[in-house]
Amino acid sequence: MATQKQINIPPVLVLFFFFCAFLFSHHKAGEVTTIRAGDELNSTSQLVSENGNFTLGFFTIPTTNYTYLGIWYTGDDQARKVWVANPNAPLVNNTGAVKIDNVTGRLVITGGGRSIVNVSTEGSVNSSVTLEDTGNFAMTDQTDNRVLWDSFDYPCNVLLPGMKLGYNLTSGRNWILTSWLSGDIAASGAFTLSWEATSSESKELVMRRRSELYWTSGRLDNQTFEFMVMLNAPFSEYSYRLSDVYSDEVKYFSFNAVDGNTPMWTLTPDGQILDGDSSFYIKPFEFCYGYQSDNGCLADSDLPVCRSQNDKQHSACEEQSVWLIFDFEPVSGLHMSAFVPPIDSTIQRS
Ligand SMILES: *[C@@H]1O[C@H](CO)[C@@H](O)[C@H](O)[C@H]1NC(C)=O
Ligand SMILES: *[C@@H]1O[C@H](CO)[C@@H](O)[C@H](O)[C@H]1NC(C)=O
Ligand SMILES: *[C@@H]1O[C@H](CO)[C@@H](O)[C@H](O)[C@H]1NC(C)=O
Ligand SMILES: *[C@@H]1O[C@H](CO)[C@@H](O)[C@H](O)[C@H]1NC(C)=O
Ligand SMILES: *[C@@H]1O[C@H](CO)[C@@H](O)[C@H](O)[C@H]1NC(C)=O
Ligand SMILES: *[C@@H]1O[C@H](CO)[C@@H](O)[C@H](O)[C@H]1NC(C)=O
Ligand SMILES: *[C@@H]1O[C@H](CO)[C@@H](O)[C@H](O)[C@H]1NC(C)=O
Ligand SMILES: *[C@@H]1O[C@H](CO)[C@@H](O)[C@H](O)[C@H]1NC(C)=O
Ligand SMILES: *[C@@H]1O[C@H](CO)[C@@H](O)[C@H](O)[C@H]1NC(C)=O
Repeated sequence: MATQKQINIPPVLVLFFFFCAFLFSHHKAGEVTTIRAGDELNSTSQLVSENGNFTLGFFTIPTTNYTYLGIWYTGDDQARKVWVANPNAPLVNNTGAVKIDNVTGRLVITGGGRSIVNVSTEGSVNSSVTLEDTGNFAMTDQTDNRVLWDSFDYPCNVLLPGMKLGYNLTSGRNWILTSWLSGDIAASGAFTLSWEATSSESKELVMRRRSELYWTSGRLDNQTFEFMVMLNAPFSEYSYRLSDVYSDEVKYFSFNAVDGNTPMWTLTPDGQILDGDSSFYIKPFEFCYGYQSDNGCLADSDLPVCRSQNDKQHSACEEQSVWLIFDFEPVSGLHMSAFVPPIDSTIQRS
């Protein structure tokens, strides 16, 4: 019950209150956001971004006992990973650590006392790596404040607000999502999601399965996509501000979240796009069966051998994917497949 009665607070209590507030804010400010030369982060500690939005740390998947270094929303009770540093090179025990290599200056994961994964592609012995409130993990050269490397340039299976999907023609860099192999294995799976802008009028998301065309979002128009009609529909749960850049140098898609606690789009191991807040699928159809050509399904997408028309259980697929892991060249660190979307390719829709 609220009361209008005037209360006299003894000054000592006021002081006590400020002392507590100071302790609290001090504790928050004291949370580590950055790895510097000489620092070592192991499984007993984590980085937390300045306002607490994101956490970075080692995590172990119980079904495999594989340990990865990852980033998640601090407030996500499922701690779904928005980025993984070593998807294709998991650690087999949790005694690893991450630090800046004092010789190469790269961010490295060490195990058994030696560097086993190069996380960053660049490095400088006078650098620091900071987990930002956007979820980006960025390495900066302290000498000239230059950003040497950042995790937003090496997407895994999740697109966060502010991340780019597309390509930079000058640097040759592609920003592509790659699905996990299964819910438990972060290694590169069968599906990729890319942004393909063949002209300033034709810009769409394209999903490939083992590099074969599988599905397209259709045109981006009026804050939604032709084949993602639930996205930003007046009744829909998801609300994202979609944007794209189309210049001579860069062509990319990006979004901002209007609201939500854990805004993100996840490309799932079975080729769906999941909204992070509602856990609903943004892409309308569960599977494309190859013979379909509606809802963005591309007619030349092959029916996966382990799926039949009535097969909604795709565990067999995942099992098969595990066998197919041997098709994938294991890459250390962050290098996703160096696949370049064919910019001039015309997407056949029949
Ligand atoms: C992690 O590092 C701390 C100090 O930096 C150390 O005391 C602790 O033993 C380390 N833990 C593991 C599992 O290596
Ligand atoms: C994971 O490690 C624990 C403890 O060492 C062990 O009991 C368990 O059997 C392991 N699980 C797998 C799948 O290897
Ligand atoms: C780098 O670190 C290792 C082990 O921490 C140490 O033995 C070595 O002397 C260091 N090298 C340089 C160039 O600082
Ligand atoms: C953990 O794994 C590393 C190799 O990744 C190995 O060198 C090290 O001895 C292992 N540590 C333990 C305690 O098993
Ligand atoms: C990491 O990069 C360095 C060069 O900077 C290279 O010598 C080393 O072999 C790489 N390590 C791994 C595990 O790929
Ligand atoms: C961090 O989280 C707060 C509260 O959820 C949000 O208002 C803010 O926009 C977030 N910051 C960034 C950079 O995403
Ligand atoms: C590292 O950067 C800091 C900040 O700019 C500078 O003061 C320092 O001299 C640099 N150290 C080296 C070894 O370059
Ligand atoms: C594209 O790449 C060029 C060359 O590396 C770089 O200067 C430019 O900043 C990049 N643009 C974007 C938007 O990343
Ligand atoms: C754009 O979408 C809004 C809301 O869905 C709708 O009210 C409006 O008429 C649309 N505008 C055009 C040009 O299609």
